[in-house]
Amino acid sequence: MRNITQKALYDIYAPYYDLVEEHFARRMDFSEEKLRSKKVSAMRIREGANVLEVCIGTGGNIPYYRKYTSGLIVGMDISDKMLKMCREKVRKHSWGSVELMLGCAEYLFHLRIRITFLIGY
Ligand SMILES: C[S@@+](CC[C@H](N)C(=O)[O-])C[C@H]1O[C@@H](n2cnc3c(N)ncnc32)[C@H](O)[C@@H]1O
Repeated sequence: MRNITQKALYDIYAPYYDLVEEHFARRMDFSEEKLRSKKVSAMRIREGANVLEVCIGTGGNIPYYRKYTSGLIVGMDISDKMLKMCREKVRKHSWGSVELMLGCAEYLFHLRIRITFLIGY
């Protein structure tokens, strides 16, 4: 697997990610909710569509996708610790039809699949 450094850093950051992001958003008077809402709305996801989020992290966008589709939401991330946090959130909120997988974004381009929405940052 490539990007060993990113993986190591996000593994360490994982338990604090949501708290730190929320803290900085509040301090900078910035609404993460508004940003996610706007970003996902711009994707024009139709009912029934499946979504693949590359770099899903702790899954902050999942509830926003659900507003538009009951289809499958697949989240991929290089950090198993970020995925663990995401999995806990999925369980806590009983979000259905969500599949999480460990993987490196760069390898996706070797797959012969048709992707309608590709999101990640
Ligand atoms: C800034 S977080 C964003 C998380 C999420 N998209 C969100 O909106 O909160 C970046 C995520 O990208 C993941 N990541 C970094 N490099 C990656 C790679 N090469 N392949 C897959 N995931 C990667 C990190 O583990 C981290 O969870």
